[in-house]
Formats: sequence, C-alpha cells, structure tokens
Amino acid sequence: MNLREDNVSEETKKLISSLPKDKDCRGKLCKYQGCWYYYNTLQAVISFQNNFQPQDTDIILASSPKSGTTWLKALTVALLERSKHDPMNHPLLSDNPHGIVPFLENNLYLKSSTPDLTKYSSSSSSRRVFATHMPLHTLKEGLKGSPCKIVFMCRNAKDALISLWYFRCKYQKLEMTRGILESMFESLCSGVSFYGPIWDHVLSYWRGSLEDPSHVLFMKYEEMKEEPCVHLKRLAEFLGCPFTEEEEESRAVNKILQLCSLRSLSDLEINRTGKTSNGVDYKFYFRKGEVGDSKNHLTPEMESKIDMIIEEKLKGSGLSL
Ligand code: A3P
Repeated sequence: MNLREDNVSEETKKLISSLPKDKDCRGKLCKYQGCWYYYNTLQAVISFQNNFQPQDTDIILASSPKSGTTWLKALTVALLERSKHDPMNHPLLSDNPHGIVPFLENNLYLKSSTPDLTKYSSSSSSRRVFATHMPLHTLKEGLKGSPCKIVFMCRNAKDALISLWYFRCKYQKLEMTRGILESMFESLCSGVSFYGPIWDHVLSYWRGSLEDPSHVLFMKYEEMKEEPCVHLKRLAEFLGCPFTEEEEESRAVNKILQLCSLRSLSDLEINRTGKTSNGVDYKFYFRKGEVGDSKNHLTPEMESKIDMIIEEKLKGSGLSL
C-alpha cells in the first residue's frame, strides 16, 4: 500500500473511489472540493470538517505552501503575546512558529481524528491559533459558521515554486536536480499539485476577503517585505489588537518585526537544531526570503508560461500575483 494511504478510513476510501484521481512524484492525489490532496491529508481534512469545534475567537492562518506561513505564524504569535513576556522569555525564542501554531490538516487531524486542542491557545492569551493550506470553502465547512478571523498569506507562484523545490529536496534528502524542478513546474502549470490548482486556492481567499473583509484578511508576502510596518499594523487591527500610541512610540512594531525577521529566527538554537513533530528540520523553513529569486532558477520560457497561466486564471478577479 502507498504510504500516503495509511490511516484512511473505509468511508474515506469509498469517497476517494468517486473522486478525480492523479499522481505526482510523491504519491497518489485525489481532488476534493476542487483541491488536490494526498489520501492521508484528505482523511485529515475530512476529520477536521466533521470534528473541529470552533471557538469564536479562533484565528486561522492560511496560505499556499511556501508562501510565508512561518513568518505569518511568528508575527501573529508576537502580536498576541506582546506585553505578556519579558523580551528574554518570549515563546518564539524557545519554540519554532510551527511548534506553537500547528497545521489543522497537516499535524493535528493527520495524527488523530479527534486531537486534543486544549493546549493550543497562544500560551497566556485565550485565543487559539491554527494554520492550514486548505482552500477557504473547505476550511469554512469545518468552521461551521463561527466568526473566526482568517488571515491568508499569498506569494508569487514562481517564488513559491522555487522555495518548494529547495524545501522538498532538503527534507527528502534529494539532490537538487533540474529534473525535479521541471516535474514540479509541470505539476504547477497543470494544476495537479498538492493543494493545487494554486489559482483556485488563492482565488478562494481573495473572493472571501472581498465578500467578508472583517473575517478574511488577504495579505501578500511581497507587500509584507516591501512595507512591513504598514502590514503588521493592518494585521494587528484585523485581529482586534491594534497598536496603541504608546506602543508605537516605544517602537513595538519594529521590535516585533525584528524578533520575527528571518535572520533573528533562523539564528536561534531551536531553529538551527529542532524538528517539527513530523520530523522536518526547522532550519529548512528559513532560506533567503527574497522576492524574485525564481529568476535565478527558472528559464525565461518557464517564467512566461507560469505568468501567462496565472494571468489567464486570475483575469477579471482584480487580483494579480
Ligand atoms: P524562500 O525559500 O524563498 O527563501 P513557508 O513558511 O510558507 O514554508 O515559506 C517559506 C519561505 O518563507 C521561504 O522562502 C523562507 O525563507 C521564507 N521565510 C521564512 N521565515 C521568514 C521570515 N521570518 N521572514 C521572511 N521570510 C521568511
């Protein structure tokens, strides 16, 4: 049996038999509610949809893979935890953002159909923070009408592709060959990729943010890099914890950005030597963090093919990537 079919219930197997199926270089995929999943992740998505008990104050951090999830997790934790810790005793200094904010379908519901969620409020604050790569409509089924706050981080698809290539080769201990990149490029372009098609994924959150801006915030990695203070303040306001005048005067915004910078986080002992509960080295989540790195790896033809597809798919939405 394919490893990715472990822990799939008979009911989910029956569902899978009725779904569109395909595969990529890592395993079998099936398309559920418009999104491609490995079978065990689909099981986790379904367990989440059936069993998650939302709380109105929950915060869900959503993203496409390799779009700045680690950064968004760190910033959110730092926002919620500010003023509760002296700077030397901050949770981000002793744990990785992925250890503090777990993925719903990639950690919690992957391990159990009814995980214990009691320890996942952001330590002394009472709000729970979770992450996901599910598209918005699938996530919403599990939220069952609860007015949770949902933040989506989006990134240019070419940079996310290169980031994923590095990440996958590192954690699977593969040589970084052009062949692997080319097969990932084909998956991205065809839409048949884990959590793909990326355009449908991003559009679900984009449209959700337009329809319900007080519950869905759409952020872009590139804008966050360009104007971090502006967007951190936007995030704080959206989450209902805006910076006070005194905080602004005491440079609290800059202190959070500094604490959550790629350099600061990646230099910490926990992030140099620790691993996720799935056994992935934390250090693999930190690389260059640059906008436009894909230029160094994709041919002009590959770049223009991705650009053309994304432009076509997003046409009329008001969103550009
Ligand atoms: P690169 O591979 O382009 O460097 P995710 O967190 O969704 O897995 O995304 C990983 C990408 O975010 C990587 O991009 C990584 O370097 C970048 N990243 C991680 N932490 C960051 C931070 N604190 N600030 C900015 N970028 C960060």
